[in-house]
Amino acid sequence: MANKFYITTPIYYVNASPHIGHSYTTIAADALARYHRQKLGKDNVWFLTGTDEHGQKIQKAAQVQGLSPQEFADKVVVQFRELWQKLNISYNDFIRTTEERHIKVVQKALEILYKNGDIYLDKYEGWYCTPCETFWTQTQIKNPLCPDCQRPVEKISETNYFLKLSKYQAWLIDHINKNKDFIKPDTRRAEILSFLRDNQLNDLCISRPTERLSWGIPLTFSPNHVTYVWFDALINYLSAVGHFDEKDNYVSEWWGKDVNIVHLIGKDILRQHAVYWPIILHALNIRLPDTVFAHGWWLIQDTKMSKSRGNVVSPIEMSGKYGTDTYRYFLLRDVPFGLDGNFSEEAIIKRFNGDLANDLGNLLYRTLTMIEKYYDGNIPELNMEKADNLDISSDLEVEASFNFSSALEKIWLRINLANKYIEETKPWNLAKQKKEDELKAFIRFLVEAIREVSLNIEPFMPKTSQSIREQIGQDKIKKGAPLFPRIELTPDT
Ligand code: MSP
Repeated sequence: MANKFYITTPIYYVNASPHIGHSYTTIAADALARYHRQKLGKDNVWFLTGTDEHGQKIQKAAQVQGLSPQEFADKVVVQFRELWQKLNISYNDFIRTTEERHIKVVQKALEILYKNGDIYLDKYEGWYCTPCETFWTQTQIKNPLCPDCQRPVEKISETNYFLKLSKYQAWLIDHINKNKDFIKPDTRRAEILSFLRDNQLNDLCISRPTERLSWGIPLTFSPNHVTYVWFDALINYLSAVGHFDEKDNYVSEWWGKDVNIVHLIGKDILRQHAVYWPIILHALNIRLPDTVFAHGWWLIQDTKMSKSRGNVVSPIEMSGKYGTDTYRYFLLRDVPFGLDGNFSEEAIIKRFNGDLANDLGNLLYRTLTMIEKYYDGNIPELNMEKADNLDISSDLEVEASFNFSSALEKIWLRINLANKYIEETKPWNLAKQKKEDELKAFIRFLVEAIREVSLNIEPFMPKTSQSIREQIGQDKIKKGAPLFPRIELTPDT
């Protein structure tokens, strides 16, 4: 059993501002990191995020603003850092691919692969789509348009380095077959397996000539080439936490056998993480991650968000309007992790008024009001005998299933049981009839249930959890304003 947990997000491109899609992966990773810190202790969890700063897209975006690519990246990276702060993201490290520590590991990894004969030089002739940074063969191109984005492709002929993916295809199929948790959810695993069975992998072009792309990491064995963005990017998971020693062994506290290594990604970048990445690691003689989990997409009225459609939703705006914890709760609660979902403010407001104001907020408020009224704000002592019968502890099992929405559903079942218990017990009658022991046990139950809930929701809603714990203190309460004052719907909200 692994006693350490290493969780990563994709490193985000800095060619544009962060949107809700980026925030989704990062919030999910944060919830997992926090959950594991509760279970394994804070020192046994490492949570990495960062930014992907090389490549043509970034070079172009910088040019448009009249900045050098580095100046441009330095500017945009601030937006990511500020967003993560606003969303209360508890990352341990933030890697940028322009950092020296990263560049060194990428160059070394390429040298090892080259020395071992896994990378070879070849002449390439074919079509290239610059916006997608993708090569296409003659048979894949019908008219000279990119099969993915339908934009014009260029004919190119150049010498490049290639990684022998084909050599490892059978090994990879075997690995995926033997390790059921390697690609999750199961639908994605099936997708990759059938892709690998039906197609012979083409070797991966891992370089670009410097005359076409200068904003990249130079290959030490060929100064006229820089490395391909994806080779550069994937290595971040290693470069952030370790290095190669003189014998070309990769050493890291966070990449050992005792670590459960999880990459959270969106489904758009599954092939890179489930095909290229394991082959790169295997060729470098480095263990593979335990799990690559690919979640679904947030859509706007069933369509993809894009700048050209003008429907990109800002996470800063949403969390500013509804609160950070509401935003975090909504994303993880409304759609089962792995599936696509539609984002709308109506749906946020519905969750807010129902789950947060009515259920959780009310439970706390009513309980505090009763403690104020019946006990002058002092929390009555715990009667152990009675408390033993109360089954309020729970394990959320987020770990095994990555199923945030069902974990939250379970917590809410308990919140609603407590609310129902209040309605059925009618404590005001107990008070009237002077049934003091019963009233005390009843209040104690609510206090314990709320404390348990506050722990359970901490990974998802850290600020709310803290605020509940402050309001229900050790032996006195400190009642604040309602946690979630209802949002009244007006026609224009
Ligand atoms: N730089 C690469 C990743 C390299 S990882 C070694 C990249 N960056 S990106 O900025 O385009 O971010 C992609 C990730 O953002 C997706 O994999 C996903 O995690 C998240 N999302 C982007 N749009 C999304 C939605 N609309 N919905 C949900 N998440 C999506 O690709």
